[in-house]
Amino acid sequence: MTVKPGIVTLRIPGPEHRARAREIVEATGLFRPEEVEIAEEVFESAALAPGTDYTPLGAFDEEGNLLGFACYGPTPCTVGTWDLYWIAVDPGAHRQGVGRKLAQWTEQRIAGEGGRLIVAETSSRGDYDPTRAFYEALNYEVAARVPDFYAPNDDLVVYIKRLGPPREIAND
Ligand SMILES: CC(C)(COP(=O)(O)OP(=O)(O)OC[C@H]1O[C@@H](n2cnc3c(N)ncnc32)[C@H](O)[C@@H]1OP(=O)(O)O)[C@@H](O)C(=O)NCCC(=O)NCCS
Repeated sequence: MTVKPGIVTLRIPGPEHRARAREIVEATGLFRPEEVEIAEEVFESAALAPGTDYTPLGAFDEEGNLLGFACYGPTPCTVGTWDLYWIAVDPGAHRQGVGRKLAQWTEQRIAGEGGRLIVAETSSRGDYDPTRAFYEALNYEVAARVPDFYAPNDDLVVYIKRLGPPREIAND
């Protein structure tokens, strides 16, 4: 699909956007087939029951075409930690602020739910340089790195962003 971002509208996508979400994930060229399947499953689950385990957010062009999406949800067994599970933008709309809009809306919504920490996991591979540059541009910081996590020479890089004031350290 040829995309023309123009004026971008943010709204919650529905299950009818599942195929387009998959197309966007595939078009990035970054994800293995099993990761594409998982992305589609997460999107569908989020779109069918937003706010249960996952919530989807979508960015749409003026003709109502999905340009990109994010899926986030509360991290089980934590207090106030939330995962940004997926964020992906059609390559035809990269570097036009769509990802930033989706991430900022995600942050606002998580903050509105009382969330205090966002976690986003990604890969150390060279083809993920733009992804890491994106998180760093949005003031996410690297909190952990697990060597060879995804595959030999493909580390897990864990980014975090704190939403509230910095944690107070007890002085006793
Ligand atoms: C990461 C991704 C969502 C960014 O979307 P985007 O709409 O292109 O991002 P934006 O235009 O909002 O970029 C915001 C800032 O991030 C940084 N950035 C984004 N892409 C970058 C790139 N290719 N190289 C360097 N910096 C980049 C820039 O600082 C940019 O601001 P600027 O354009 O004013 O300089 C997009 O590249 C993508 O879909 N990647 C593949 C999927 C992926 O890796 N998802 C995350 C893991 S699930």
